[in-house]
Amino acid sequence: MFPSSGFERAPIGIFDSGVGGLTVLRQLYRQLPNESIIYFGDTARLPYGIRSQAEIVQFVREILTWMQQQRVKMVIMACNTSSALALEVVRQEFSVPILGIILPGAKAAVNSGKRIGVIATPATAKSNAYRRAILEIDDSVQVWQVGCPEFVPLIEQNRIHDPYTTEVARSYLEPLIKQDIDTLVYGCTHYPYLAPVVRSLLPASVKLVDPAVHVVAACAQELDLLGRMNTYLPLPTYFAVSGSPQKFAQSSLPWLGCTPSVELVRFEELGVRS
Ligand code: DGL
Repeated sequence: MFPSSGFERAPIGIFDSGVGGLTVLRQLYRQLPNESIIYFGDTARLPYGIRSQAEIVQFVREILTWMQQQRVKMVIMACNTSSALALEVVRQEFSVPILGIILPGAKAAVNSGKRIGVIATPATAKSNAYRRAILEIDDSVQVWQVGCPEFVPLIEQNRIHDPYTTEVARSYLEPLIKQDIDTLVYGCTHYPYLAPVVRSLLPASVKLVDPAVHVVAACAQELDLLGRMNTYLPLPTYFAVSGSPQKFAQSSLPWLGCTPSVELVRFEELGVRS
């Protein structure tokens, strides 16, 4: 469906396990309105945050193989768990430029404060990817990471305003508040949806960092550098999922403001799965 030649007009591919990557998509619409985008949600295998590295690497390989078949000019991992566990491996295997979300998030965190809290999926927290990235930039800051296993299922069910979600958030944030953090990083692309809850629980002085803003800024820089910015009108965003398209269309409505048309992709049938 996308032109096969001419890198400028080719789409940017972005993916996540579910609706989390839509926080990155919104930033793409804001910062790079001329770009055509392919969004993939691996909803059949969500949540990623409780899976092993081997599983995540395999899923990401399949997604990238499919993305290359769609002739994307660049891929953004709109998923911290994939960026933490698979980015280094798959970068060696694919020729398409791939941007992870953790480094741009870490840079923004270091610019924001000295006592940094990170909320993330259990897999991302356990990987220490944020701590490593932050300390590599500035080893004088302190970093605390908290794995938040209940957040992604609650967000996918759109239970943001459920009092239970506030209680769960309180229990995850309490140890960070006790450490007197000055900055909190959303270390999972699903979490910016929890902003009203998180804001109500944190002291007003704590600054929030949304890595989605910064990965898209990095993408803009990279496209410019490679001469791949689209100067033509973009095509409508193409949404695809591995699970139920109807369910994804429904759950993305509150975040997109419209019900997208969504296609089902079965990697086995496309010969993508090894
Ligand atoms: N939104 C993803 C992330 O940033 C994955 C969440 C999940 O599926 O557990 O890590």
